[in-house]
Amino acid sequence: MSRVALVTGGTRGIGAAISRALAAEGHRVAASYHGNEEAARRFREETGIPAYRFDVGDFEACREAVARIEAELGPVDILVNNAGITRDVTFHRMTPEQWRAVIRTNLDSLFNVTRQVIEGMRARGWGRIVNISSINGQKGQFGQTNYSAAKAGVLGFTKALALENAGKGITVNAVAPGYIATDMVMAVREDVRQRIVAQIPVGRLGTPEEVARCVVFLVSEEAGFITGATLTVNGGQYMT
Ligand code: CAA
Repeated sequence: MSRVALVTGGTRGIGAAISRALAAEGHRVAASYHGNEEAARRFREETGIPAYRFDVGDFEACREAVARIEAELGPVDILVNNAGITRDVTFHRMTPEQWRAVIRTNLDSLFNVTRQVIEGMRARGWGRIVNISSINGQKGQFGQTNYSAAKAGVLGFTKALALENAGKGITVNAVAPGYIATDMVMAVREDVRQRIVAQIPVGRLGTPEEVARCVVFLVSEEAGFITGATLTVNGGQYMT
């Protein structure tokens, strides 16, 4: 069945792979983006998927954008909260701005976007929400107190929201990727990245498509008995 899916941060990296995979399943996809206009333009041209520019850290902007998406595509039945940033630095050097930026984009966004669609999903008696966490929210990561805190918060949010909506036909799950070959991971200093890859038993970085397959599965009709779960996709780097 074709449904409307919103993927935040859906024009680059893991989000773009998720947008493409959901569109390939026959869903009508809306991808959001914030900063990179050029990447969004290329994504639109290549995929034909509409891309909407708004800040997931801004509640009012999310309200307006979701209203527009629903007016243009229809009610959002599938939400993938994927948008995320890093501001890696050891905690003793971290500024309030670096802390706030990551919590705002990676965690506040779950409230800001999900709040816009949850009432509709409850009223219609069907919904799929997938929140992209991270291996570093599960195990902690040197240089990422802000990011690890936000991504661990994503897991708590997922479980609480899953409980509240389990009786309404809505599943809420998390996917926790490990190190995936995206701009975000490639921005890590080469020597640091080499050391990280050496800790991955599968012996390589993951691909965005490998994460996207998990999302496609979790939003399917057949996954209706899976809720509050965390699916880890990390090449064996950390087993939960
Ligand atoms: N564990 C223990 N010690 C560590 C360490 C680790 N994981 N990483 C670094 N150190 C040590 C270093 O060996 C070094 O020690 P010495 O001074 O004795 O040599 C000291 O800590 C300082 O390390 P750096 O030289 O790396 O310090 P820096 O200030 O130049 O850089 C940093 C700090 C920016 C945090 C850098 O270490 C870094 O980029 N780390 C990787 C962070 C990371 O993995 N980010 C993931 C981004 S991708 C992502 O987030 C997606 C996802 O979900 C997986």
